[in-house]
Amino acid sequence: MSELYLPEGIGQILASEVQIDKVIHRLSDQISADYRDKEVLLIGILKGAFIFLADLSRHLAIPHAVDFMSLSSYGATATTSGEVRIIMDLRTFIRGKHVIVVEDIVDTGYTLLYLQQLLRARKPASLKTCVLLSKPDRRRVATEIDYLGFEIPDHWVVGYGLDYADRFRTLPYIAVLEPEVYQEG
Ligand code: PRP
Repeated sequence: MSELYLPEGIGQILASEVQIDKVIHRLSDQISADYRDKEVLLIGILKGAFIFLADLSRHLAIPHAVDFMSLSSYGATATTSGEVRIIMDLRTFIRGKHVIVVEDIVDTGYTLLYLQQLLRARKPASLKTCVLLSKPDRRRVATEIDYLGFEIPDHWVVGYGLDYADRFRTLPYIAVLEPEVYQEG
């Protein structure tokens, strides 16, 4: 086993590689069972979902394709307006397809709600959501999560796709970021 890399600013580990792996297996088993006779399109939301989508997709036991969207939630701070913009749209037409949106985290819920409304209007055969992390204490709008990895408390978390100013995204675990890091910046 290689040595754990803990850069400065990393606090408590909320989910280790082993714990994440277990959750990936649970979610991929559920999805594979629910879509047994169907073909699925996984839509990963960049950047945060790229590692989660890569791991989830490699454990699915059903035929599936992947595509990506990039969104920005404008002013995603304590004073967030909830305004979401598309930075990069899908390359796939989703009409008549079984779609699963794959997100790293749901915080206020604005991004996922926006996506659900946008994608439903394109008339997929079905639309579900698979989310690795949810912070229920931060929710501003109700959103449906069909497949959920972990519920976590309201801390800034990084690793496994999640960042602070584009740092820490590729850590193999999910950890709390020490407040000094973002209070300094
Ligand atoms: C994060 C995350 C979700 C969104 C959730 O993306 O990946 O898309 O915020 O927040 P919400 O529930 O409050 O809308 P972010 O804007 O940090 O971009 P990134 O994935 O490229 O880091």
